[in-house]
Amino acid sequence: MGKLNYKGGNFYGRLKSRSLTQKQSELFETLLPNVSIKSFDDIRLLDYKGIFIEIGFGSGEHLAQLASLDADKLFVGCELFINGIASLLTRIEQMNLSNLKVFQNDARKLFHEIPDESIDGVFLLFPDPWPKRKHIKRRFIQNDTIQEIHRILKEGGFFKIATDDIGYFQWIQKSFTSFDTKFSMEVLNSESRPPEFIWPQTRYEQKATKSCNFFLFIKKSPL
Ligand SMILES: C[S@@+](CC[C@H](N)C(=O)[O-])C[C@H]1O[C@@H](n2cnc3c(N)ncnc32)[C@H](O)[C@@H]1O
Repeated sequence: MGKLNYKGGNFYGRLKSRSLTQKQSELFETLLPNVSIKSFDDIRLLDYKGIFIEIGFGSGEHLAQLASLDADKLFVGCELFINGIASLLTRIEQMNLSNLKVFQNDARKLFHEIPDESIDGVFLLFPDPWPKRKHIKRRFIQNDTIQEIHRILKEGGFFKIATDDIGYFQWIQKSFTSFDTKFSMEVLNSESRPPEFIWPQTRYEQKATKSCNFFLFIKKSPL
């Protein structure tokens, strides 16, 4: 279905850091099976006023906050970092969120299964910058991932990206140049960033020591 040639085994992030607490391990046993999706088929028939996907949600604070503000929309987080998933599970329990699902896998694998024009918004916040030249192919933003996100978004749907890395900022601008008929682009910075209730801060933004940039891309043309 998708145009992205997804191959397993090309995820380069950390899978785990410190050991999980007993409570976190329990949430993996009890809560994760209820909120986990294995494929897009698990949610395609659910009755929500929009589907939003976050790529690499880290500790999940951004996604959990959005889900708590919009109970009639469905939020799906993709992440492989076990400690991050544990943090999100804790939030889902504490905030009693029923409109948040977890795809414990590479976001590109999920995109590959999604029919054209099905998604209302996609978030990619503080992706790993992979600054070394030899690692640039590891960056999430590549022509094929932009193409794939454009394909799954509805017309008028958004793709929001944030970064505090100047090299990645320039890479994003350059990568979207050939998509200027397909997306409109707006860029904000740490001073002009959208308010928290629209764009909640993530842990990486809170820890950032450099100025951050926020991209808002809107899909403006069909496939
Ligand atoms: C630098 S962290 C940022 C976390 C969070 N977005 C924040 O701003 O605090 C990047 C995260 O993206 C995740 N990640 C990287 N590539 C991914 C992919 N292809 N699919 C899902 N998650 C991915 C990593 O596991 C890591 O947790």
